[in-house]
Amino acid sequence: MVDYVLPDLPYDYGALEPSISGEIMELHHARHHHAYVNGINAAVEQLAEAREKEAFGSLSTLEKNLAFHLGGHVNHSVFWPNMSPDGGDKPTGELAQAIDEYFGGFDRFRAHFQANALGVQGSGWSVLTWDVVAQRPFIVQHFDHQGNVPICMVPLLMLDMWEHTYYLQYRNDKATFVEQWWHVVNWDDVQRRFEAARAQTSGLIV
Ligand SMILES: [Fe+2]
Repeated sequence: MVDYVLPDLPYDYGALEPSISGEIMELHHARHHHAYVNGINAAVEQLAEAREKEAFGSLSTLEKNLAFHLGGHVNHSVFWPNMSPDGGDKPTGELAQAIDEYFGGFDRFRAHFQANALGVQGSGWSVLTWDVVAQRPFIVQHFDHQGNVPICMVPLLMLDMWEHTYYLQYRNDKATFVEQWWHVVNWDDVQRRFEAARAQTSGLIV
């Protein structure tokens, strides 16, 4: 049984050029994301097998694989529609108001988010999240695909800072990559996620 499938990109591989090359997008989606989908399906199958045989000796490894591969699948599934060839500019409406209220305006938000991305140690993500406890946004770092983030955070905007996202095009110049990435941010998608999170998460945990 296959629980998870690789979603199609909402645009062609080359559609985000020149910000992100088509070669990177194809490798990233068809190889890297696909590997996480295969990984999570394998973990689900192996967990079922362990239960069936009551053989729990590898449980810690299986749980780590579950978190890593499901994290990779979910993060990339948010990352792709968070970008668009028609992206860029700034958020509007209530998302813009929330950014003003909690981050002191878009320019400060952008500076914080960018520094957050460039400060990721090793592989990880810079993420604008919705905290379902306080019903407010935060900027957080994900380590790998799943570490350092409490369970109450719903992702709104995710930037993949693993080297596979930029290295073929930008080498070690992460700052230029992030500068170029702002040109393809799909604020309509971020706004949609923001509205859905606010509408559905009140009282979800506390
Ligand atoms: Fe990635």
